[in-house]
Amino acid sequence: MTVFAIDFARLYRDHMAAAGKPKTREDWDERAGKMKQGQEKGIYTTALMGRMDFSDCDSLLDVGCGVGTVALSAAPHLDRIYGLDFSPRMLALLTENARSKGYSNIYPITRAWEDDWSDVPVCDIVVASRSSVVTDMADALEKLNSKARRRVYLTSLVGGYFIDPGILAAANRQRMPLPDYLYIVNILYRMGIHPRLDYIESENRLAGKKDFTQFSRKVGAILGELNPQEAERLKAWYDADPERARSGGDPFRWAVVSWEKSI
Ligand SMILES: C[S@@+](CC[C@H](N)C(=O)[O-])C[C@H]1O[C@@H](n2cnc3c(N)ncnc32)[C@H](O)[C@@H]1O
Repeated sequence: MTVFAIDFARLYRDHMAAAGKPKTREDWDERAGKMKQGQEKGIYTTALMGRMDFSDCDSLLDVGCGVGTVALSAAPHLDRIYGLDFSPRMLALLTENARSKGYSNIYPITRAWEDDWSDVPVCDIVVASRSSVVTDMADALEKLNSKARRRVYLTSLVGGYFIDPGILAAANRQRMPLPDYLYIVNILYRMGIHPRLDYIESENRLAGKKDFTQFSRKVGAILGELNPQEAERLKAWYDADPERARSGGDPFRWAVVSWEKSI
């Protein structure tokens, strides 16, 4: 068997279907309230901005923009930013954040990855930051590439676990990881695109909790309420390694996949 026998687009779709359904518009609408502020000063955003090249660019399309972490950070560098998202509440907060920071160059577009993008503007830069949990990655990559004049940046969680697998096991919530950048690189290769690959490490959502009570409350909020046996096992995981507990287990590691349109 050679690599040419592998249909990575199909493999991704099958893996995604086995890993569960992506969050819905309603799920993200509900989350929007908690995300309210962008994280322009956070480790992840600073690192991503440091890897982006704005030279000779006037416009940017931010796909799955959320409340505007990337759009707001890029606004001072460019003439026009389009924030595309399927969640109306995320887009309302993007608009509110842009207004409060005095930016008048950010334009929301209510759209899903899966919709028709024929009227989405072509921009110098296209970004999809932490927003590419889609059912069909080949279609998503075609869309990103078709809307970029110069450069594309995409970030994908390495390993596909949004919570340390050790915590999942302790809480008795074993699940399949989401498909990650390995598929993306291979699908791009089939499209004749040979991307750059880089990585960003940032804190996970359980990092820095004051004590076990705070920690287990947050685990419960992410995974659903724990029964007494699960809570006991989680406590054993927490007590076994205080430093690991403080960092909430493995940090998030994001693959930054990027390419130039001329390559
Ligand atoms: C984790 S947030 C990332 C927000 C921002 N890009 C960042 O890096 O902070 C994911 C965003 O993708 C959006 N999203 C998820 N699935 C989508 C879909 N199928 N179509 C359009 N947007 C989607 C969500 O509404 C949410 O705003």
